[in-house]
Amino acid sequence: MRPARVGRHEIVLFRDQGRVYALDPYCAHMGARLCQGGVHNGLLTCPLHGWQYRGDGSVAGGTQRVRSWPVEERMGGILVFNGIKALYEPPCEPPGYHWSGATSELLDSPWFALTANAFDTHHYQVVHRRRLKEPAVVLEPDRWTFSCSYLSEVTGGQLSDRLMRRLAPDGIRVTMTCYGGVLFLVNSVVGSRRASLLVGMEPEGDRTRLRLQIGSTGKGLQSVLARYLYTAFLKSDLKPMAGVRLQPFTGLPVDATIERFARYLEGLPTAP
Ligand code: FES
Ligand SMILES: [Fe+2]
Repeated sequence: MRPARVGRHEIVLFRDQGRVYALDPYCAHMGARLCQGGVHNGLLTCPLHGWQYRGDGSVAGGTQRVRSWPVEERMGGILVFNGIKALYEPPCEPPGYHWSGATSELLDSPWFALTANAFDTHHYQVVHRRRLKEPAVVLEPDRWTFSCSYLSEVTGGQLSDRLMRRLAPDGIRVTMTCYGGVLFLVNSVVGSRRASLLVGMEPEGDRTRLRLQIGSTGKGLQSVLARYLYTAFLKSDLKPMAGVRLQPFTGLPVDATIERFARYLEGLPTAP
C-alpha cells in the first residue's frame, strides 16, 4: 500500500492477491488517511475506526464508498487513468521483455513541453547528435494516440554515441507513441537488440515528475546497456528544456511534426 497522485488528485494504491487497486485516500467515515491503515484479508482497513474497503471502493458490510480509479499494471509500472473510466487502452506489453524501474526525476519544465520535445525532430541533431536517415512517419490512429517512427544515425562523439554506433552501425529504428498526452512509450531496435522506455509524466505545478520503466529483451548486460543509453539520451534534454516556455506554432516547415503534436494535445479532453 502506498500514497500516490493522479493529476491534482491524491490516491492510495493497494494490492490484493496480485491485483492493484486505486482509491480516494480519505475514509468516507471521518476522513482518516487510508494509507496509514493496512490491508487485511484483501480489504483496505482504515486506521481510525476500522472500516474496510474493497478494491471497488465499497465498504464491506456498509453502503458507503470512496471513489475508485481505473488501474492497470503494465511494463513493470502501475497506470492509473485520470477519470471515472478508462477512455482508451494503455500500451500493450511486448512479449519477452524484462522491465525495471528507473529513478523518478523532477524536471523544471511543464509536462506538455516534455512530451512535445520527443516529437520535435528538429532538435535531434543539435541536442541528441542524431540525424534522420529518412523522413519521420507520423501517425494518429485515434484521438488518444500520436506516434512517430524514424531511422536515425548517431553523429556525436560522446561515449554513449560511440557505443550506440557500434551496436547499431546501420542506424537505430525508433517508434515513439504518446497515449493521452502524459504516457509515452519508446520502442527502439538497436542492431539485433530491442529495448523500450515507458515514461509517465506527473505534473507538479510548473514542473514535471518523470517516472521511467525500462525494458529489454535480455537481462544482465543488455538491460544495463538499455538503461545507460536511454538515460544518456534523456540527460541531453535537461539543460535546453529547463524553464522552457514552449511555443510550438512557429509556422516553419521544420517544425511541422511538433506543431501537429501540439494540435493533438489541444484535441484531448480535459481531465475531470
Ligand atoms: S475515519 Fe475511517 S473508520 Fe472512522
Ligand atoms: Fe530531446
